[in-house]
Amino acid sequence: MRLEGRVALVSGAAMGIGKGIALLFAQQGAKVIAADVNAQAGSATAEEIRATGAKCIFHRTDVSAEADVKAAVAAAQKEFGQPIDVLANVAGIAHESPAHLLDLADWNRILTVNLTSMFLCAKYVLPAMISAKRGSIVNITSIQGLFGFPGYPHYAASKGGVISFTRQLAREYAQHGIRVNCIAPGTVETPMNVQVLERVPNPAELRRAWERMHPLGRIGQPIDVAWGALFLACDESSWVTGQCLSIDGGISCSVLPE
Ligand SMILES: NC(=O)c1ccc[n+]([C@@H]2O[C@H](COP(=O)([O-])OP(=O)(O)OC[C@H]3O[C@@H](n4cnc5c(N)ncnc54)[C@H](O)[C@@H]3O)[C@@H](O)[C@H]2O)c1
Repeated sequence: MRLEGRVALVSGAAMGIGKGIALLFAQQGAKVIAADVNAQAGSATAEEIRATGAKCIFHRTDVSAEADVKAAVAAAQKEFGQPIDVLANVAGIAHESPAHLLDLADWNRILTVNLTSMFLCAKYVLPAMISAKRGSIVNITSIQGLFGFPGYPHYAASKGGVISFTRQLAREYAQHGIRVNCIAPGTVETPMNVQVLERVPNPAELRRAWERMHPLGRIGQPIDVAWGALFLACDESSWVTGQCLSIDGGISCSVLPE
């Protein structure tokens, strides 16, 4: 078990990629704090993990609210009696609009939930990691932080910011034994994308288009991303920091669409 005895805070753990990461971390021995704004689904994730015999608590947390983040970190330390070893910053939202039609409020909301939240979570876990002289932070960005896709200027900016923030933290906290990396997923089958499919007239056609976009011929599953997060969280990646790992079915190695 790769995370035996470690405490991991996973944001966005109620569903999708965050849930996949929380389940895998728990299976690998971590004591998990599942932090999410969705109390019903988040509690269900925690229940599912506890049913396997692993330790998990749910903490209702809006990661864009500083007081919530502070309380979640304190709750984890109180429950498990030890500092957080692993922070997986997964919570995020998406919204589609070209820049010339985008409201400032939507720009600010995406930047706050997707980027400022990662600063807040890091801010509150870092002091104990510094004292422990160890820790791993895994931030979920997106291939949209690396390449341009139409319709998501604010999302792309937030995800590009996550990559820069990851590198900056990695450089600054390496001296304390703390590693910081990020993962850039391609299209993953999660509630976020199921909602997109539900909004279009021909979901099967859009799904096939997504599959064709990825050279490996399928879209990803949360577990595909979770394995990468596990690698970056555990000691097997002890000489890896400041990196952005693309887990994307090969989309980032294609110059032209199919
Ligand atoms: N699904 C994809 O194709 C894809 C691709 C690249 C990157 N990502 C990124 O992966 C992450 C997870 O995406 P997903 O597809 O699993 O999304 P999802 O919508 O399926 O799940 C997101 C989770 O985050 C939670 N959340 C949203 N806002 C929150 C807040 N303010 N505070 C706490 N929790 C909050 C939601 O309640 C939900 O449980 C996001 O950062 C997303 O940008 C997703």
